[in-house]
Amino acid sequence: MHDSTTPNRTGSLALYVALLAAWIAMLGSLYFSDVRGFVPCTLCWYQRIIMYPLTGLIAFGILRRDWHLPFLVLPFSLLGQGVSTYHYLIQKTTIFGAPTACAAGVPCTTVYINWLGFITIPFLAMIAFLIITVAMLIAYYSDEPNPENRTPARWPVVAIIVISLLVYGGAYGQAREAKAAKAAALPVTVLPGTEHAEHNPVQSTATLAEGKVQYAQACAACHGPDGAGIPTLGNGFVDSEFMATNDDGAVLAMIRAGREPSAPDNKSGVAMPASGGRPDLTDKQMAAIIEYIRNEFLQQ
Ligand code: HEC
Repeated sequence: MHDSTTPNRTGSLALYVALLAAWIAMLGSLYFSDVRGFVPCTLCWYQRIIMYPLTGLIAFGILRRDWHLPFLVLPFSLLGQGVSTYHYLIQKTTIFGAPTACAAGVPCTTVYINWLGFITIPFLAMIAFLIITVAMLIAYYSDEPNPENRTPARWPVVAIIVISLLVYGGAYGQAREAKAAKAAALPVTVLPGTEHAEHNPVQSTATLAEGKVQYAQACAACHGPDGAGIPTLGNGFVDSEFMATNDDGAVLAMIRAGREPSAPDNKSGVAMPASGGRPDLTDKQMAAIIEYIRNEFLQQ
């Protein structure tokens, strides 16, 4: 305990940590969608809806030195933690079966990043909500009995917001410049008269059936059930020069790596996640998908 004449530093510090976590979470998610081109799924949007207002709520709470702040923030941070934990479990386990929340658009099971094999975007959200929750509990329990003494300094609030915005602005500006430079460097005709890749016209029907099932589950949400593509999510395969001019090995390598908006051959400015967001699919399953795409969608 501290004597009642000094301001409560632990409590103030916890509030600043919560504010910083909220700002990093918001700008980080904007970085993923606006700079890296990852299209957010429905569950991602729910987490954003909960997280974004906290950036303002916590800031105003500190500026106004409002002792009720933990009571206002905790319901949101706990709810957000529930949603992100659910989202993470959907990505990594099958205990909830097939998710119903993301029936349209990007599947909630899409894994855009998978750092160290377990750090995905909902995992990061989970950590941010957890930090905010714990910080609010600390702020609440290290509370001063005398409200007069609870006077967190105001300047760190301004500093946190300004620095966060500057860092994000820098990253965003750099990405825009890179994009503009790439667009300027892009040749008008991409196809250098390459020969059509050899591929076996006689397919095993078992492979095609497997490919059809896997395609519907893993790729159709962005590339369309009929391979015609879905605007803003994924390109069509019907007139894909890439498919026509690359052999199966090269196509597989591209699918495994995904395609960032900054990649020289990205045409849409939207990211294809590595392995289509399904790192669990084996090379054999991917090969079946590629054969299915070639047979069903490509104009021969
Ligand atoms: C979250 C959306 C998404 C999912 C899921 C997805 N893709 Fe993609 N894919 C894209 C986008 C976006 C591009 C195009 C990027 C560009 O503009 O070059 C792309 C490009 C491709 C290309 C290159 C096509 C070309 O003409 O350049 C192939 C091949 C491909 N995807 C295969 C797959 C396969 C196979 C799956 C399923 C295992 C899959 N994708 C799942 C979004 C997705």
